[in-house]
Amino acid sequence: MTTLITGGTGFSGAAVVRELARRGETVAVLSRNAASVATRFPDLAVEARQGDVCDAASLERAFAGIDTVINCVQFPNSPIENRRKGWTFEQVDFKGTVQQVQAAKQAGVRRFVYVSGVGADVGSEKHWFVFKARAEQAVRDSGLAFVVVRPTWLYGPEDVSLNRFVGFARRLPFVPTFGDGSQPMQPLFIDDLGRILADAATNQAADGLTLEAGGPERLSMDDVVRTALDVAGKRRPILHQPVALGKLMARALQLLPGPPLTPDAIDFITHEAVADNAELERALSPRLTPLREGLATYL
Ligand SMILES: NC(=O)c1ccc[n+]([C@@H]2O[C@H](COP(=O)([O-])OP(=O)(O)OC[C@H]3O[C@@H](n4cnc5c(N)ncnc54)[C@H](OP(=O)(O)O)[C@@H]3O)[C@@H](O)[C@H]2O)c1
Repeated sequence: MTTLITGGTGFSGAAVVRELARRGETVAVLSRNAASVATRFPDLAVEARQGDVCDAASLERAFAGIDTVINCVQFPNSPIENRRKGWTFEQVDFKGTVQQVQAAKQAGVRRFVYVSGVGADVGSEKHWFVFKARAEQAVRDSGLAFVVVRPTWLYGPEDVSLNRFVGFARRLPFVPTFGDGSQPMQPLFIDDLGRILADAATNQAADGLTLEAGGPERLSMDDVVRTALDVAGKRRPILHQPVALGKLMARALQLLPGPPLTPDAIDFITHEAVADNAELERALSPRLTPLREGLATYL
C-alpha cells in the first residue's frame, strides 16, 4: 500500500512524507524533477516519481500502483502568480487538482487527500479562494474516498513567511509589515499538519470530511510576529506599512519580468487566517502545538 505525496518536496509535503515514513508506511514522492527527491530526503527510503500536474500523461505514469494520493502541490513563488509560466491558482491549484483526480481514478487510487486552505469558497471575491474551492469540489465529486484539509497559516523551520520577519529583525532595526497587524491569525505548526495529513491518509474516521485546521491560539498578526521575535531573542519595533502603499509599490513592481510582489499577494498576506477546529478534533483528536512551543523547537 503506497501513499504518493504530490508536492512532497515542498514545505507541507515534506512534513507528511517524514511523518508517514516515521510510522513505517510505504511512501512515494512526486516531483517535476525526480532526482531532487533523494536530495530532499537523504535519510529516508522514499520512492521518487516524476510528474507535472499540468501534464496528464505524466500523472498517469506516476500514479500507477498507488493506493492513496496526498496533494500538497503549490506553484513556485506562491502567492505571486506568473501567468506566462502557468504558475497560477487556476492552472495549478484548480486544474492541477482536476488532472490529479482524473489520473487517480484511472490508476485505481482509493483515497485522495487534498490540502486546501481556510477561506476556500466559490463565492469569494478573491480568486485564490474560488479556485481552492473548485479544486475541493472536484475531489468531493470524484467518487474516491477523500479528505479535504484546510490549514490556516503554516509555520516551521522551512517556512518563507514568519521566518522572513525574523530575518528582517536580524538585519534591520525594525520589522516591516503590511497592514495594521490586527488581523486574527491561528498559526499551525508544520509538524502538526504532517500528523493530521498522515492520519487523514490512514484513518477512515476522516473520510468524506472537510477539516479546517489551525493552531490552538487565536492571535493578532502583530502578536504572532512579536512572539516569534521574542523566541528568537530579538527586540524590534514593528513598522506597519499601509496596504494601499504596498499595493502602489506592487503595481509598479508588476512591470518587472519576475515581480517580487503583486497587489493580489498583498491582499493574500494581509488576510486573516483562522479555523474552526471542531470537526478536526472530533475526527482525529490531533495535538495542536502552542505557537511559542513550536517556535522554540527551531528558532
Ligand atoms: N504554506 C502555507 O502557509 C499554507 C497555508 C495554507 C494552505 N497551504 C496549502 O498547502 C499546499 C502546499 O503548500 P506549500 O506551502 O507546502 O507549498 P510549497 O512549499 O511551495 O511546495 C509545493 C510543491 O509543489 C510542487 N509543484 C509545484 N508545481 C508543480 C507542478 N506543476 N506539478 C507537480 N508538482 C509541482 C513543487 O515540487 P517540485 O519542485 O519538486 O516539483 C513544490 O515542492 C498548497 O495547496 C497550499 O495552498 C499552505
